[in-house]
Amino acid sequence: MEDERTPIEPSGLNPGVAHNARVWNYWLGGKDHYPADREVGERVFGMFPGIVHVARADRAFLGRAVRHLAGEAGIRQFLDIGTGLPTVDNTHEVAQRVAPDARIVYVDNDPMVLVHARALLTSTPEGATDYVDADARDTGAILKAAAGTLDFDRPVAVMLLGLLNFILDTGEARGIVRRLMDAVPSGSHLVLTHPTLELGGEANAEAMRFWNEHATPPITARGSREIAGFLDGLEVLEPGIVSCSRWRPEFADLGEAPSEVAQFGVVARKP
Ligand SMILES: C[S@@+](CC[C@H](N)C(=O)[O-])C[C@H]1O[C@@H](n2cnc3c(N)ncnc32)[C@H](O)[C@@H]1O
Repeated sequence: MEDERTPIEPSGLNPGVAHNARVWNYWLGGKDHYPADREVGERVFGMFPGIVHVARADRAFLGRAVRHLAGEAGIRQFLDIGTGLPTVDNTHEVAQRVAPDARIVYVDNDPMVLVHARALLTSTPEGATDYVDADARDTGAILKAAAGTLDFDRPVAVMLLGLLNFILDTGEARGIVRRLMDAVPSGSHLVLTHPTLELGGEANAEAMRFWNEHATPPITARGSREIAGFLDGLEVLEPGIVSCSRWRPEFADLGEAPSEVAQFGVVARKP
């Protein structure tokens, strides 16, 4: 974060400890981070340079998945949990370019994201956006607050991008996904991204160990079998659980990025 832009520190915001939302913003080339975030961001980059490609490929995947959902799949409602700091092409901007009447609820538990949330509340007049300050584990509170904007009798795209990796216990993470998907009707979708060592090798493991000693919240990687476990009872869309950069790539995303990154991406439909 630029010094002149941080006169007030909201409760819970600790500039001295690197926070994921701010470091992610740093890797994405944003401006909303403190020296502690930049330092950890650089150290992780030094151990695992692929992290920058992971962050950018994840956002590009978000764009392609949301365009597919708002377009071909006809989805008009999005529940984006673990939103991150506002950046280029937030979910509502992508969705409302395709479907101006799309309704989006964002959820994050980082105080800095809350401070910047008004940048997410720039809906089209036909659609709606809202922001909920909540922990992903508190699905009851999230669903209750989101019901003010979303109609849970109609399909919803539940988006958990780079989020379940902060729920270290796999059983707890599965419970979160199950409770969310139980609350939405047939035709709803689940969109996931998740870091993995299967595509990233040991360098990513070392970087994650460093992260867990110096930053917050602690993170874990998962393999494709654990990711598949999150999709129980859902129909996985083609091309399945793949490097998020390989999920329906578009010409515009090819550029200089590597074709594979250490981050799985998947979209699945509730039958
Ligand atoms: C890696 S960023 C991903 C941001 C965005 N979804 C994307 O894919 O670009 C993860 C976000 O999840 C948020 N987060 C982490 N743990 C959370 C939790 N338990 N509840 C809600 N949000 C959480 C962090 O604050 C951060 O903004």
